[in-house]
Amino acid sequence: MSLWNKSVIFEKNALIMLIGVLIVVSIGGLAQIVPLFYLKSTIEKVDGVRPYTPLELAGRDIYVREGCYLCHSQMIRALRDEVERYGHYSLAAESMYDHPFQWGSKRNGPDLARVGGKYSDAWHQQHFNDPRSLVPASIMPGYPWLATTELDYRHISESMNALANEGVPYTQEMIEKAGLDLEAQAKDGSAGSSDLAKRYPNAISRNFGGQAGAVTEADAVIAYLQMLGTQVDFKIYDDKANIR
Ligand code: HEC
Repeated sequence: MSLWNKSVIFEKNALIMLIGVLIVVSIGGLAQIVPLFYLKSTIEKVDGVRPYTPLELAGRDIYVREGCYLCHSQMIRALRDEVERYGHYSLAAESMYDHPFQWGSKRNGPDLARVGGKYSDAWHQQHFNDPRSLVPASIMPGYPWLATTELDYRHISESMNALANEGVPYTQEMIEKAGLDLEAQAKDGSAGSSDLAKRYPNAISRNFGGQAGAVTEADAVIAYLQMLGTQVDFKIYDDKANIR
């Protein structure tokens, strides 16, 4: 009997057909799933990506608290119009320490994945106080209380500890020095710990919120925004990955 005749049995018996389908589909499924168990991570590591500083992390928490993600995405797609408007498309590694990620699903306002360095701190302060004083047609609500509310960072070490359990590489030292690092970054690096840059390469420290003396919520949010999208040096990345 030829092979062809033998295979007819699948067409004549529904149960055997069903079992046959299940076997074939599971082979396909296993081929896709099994390799994932042997990979430590599906995200390719990229030079420059570091965990958020305590101040940036506190800013991120306010970003989530205020629902900024309801109007802003943080994910530049690999489409020409997006790349021309916002800059290099986002890499998975750029949000690998984000829990939960802030890719968003709505853009009532522009994508913020690369807003870092686009405006001055003073611009952001003014924009939070009164968006329409800078962009007359803006529908963004004002957040004037950010500048006048002192930042509550009593629980920043616990936050970092929780993130460390999620796999963010915060060391014991980073967690212990969180409060000092936060103050140092908001007060132009002069106060408290001077090792901020050692623990967080390329962290900028200055008075982001513009309020002398106090660490405000504006300090944290603006520090966070000014860092977004600035960690990877794309001149080096694109050369290495051979993207032109
Ligand atoms: C109701 C929707 C809405 C919410 C909520 C919102 N925004 Fe906006 N945002 C906009 C719109 C629309 C613009 C564009 C006009 C403008 O610049 O004001 C904008 C612009 C911006 C810009 C300038 C972006 C650029 O590239 O020009 C930043 C930064 C920003 N928002 C940050 C925030 C932060 C931080 C929050 C939360 C505290 C927030 N937004 C909440 C709608 C929103």
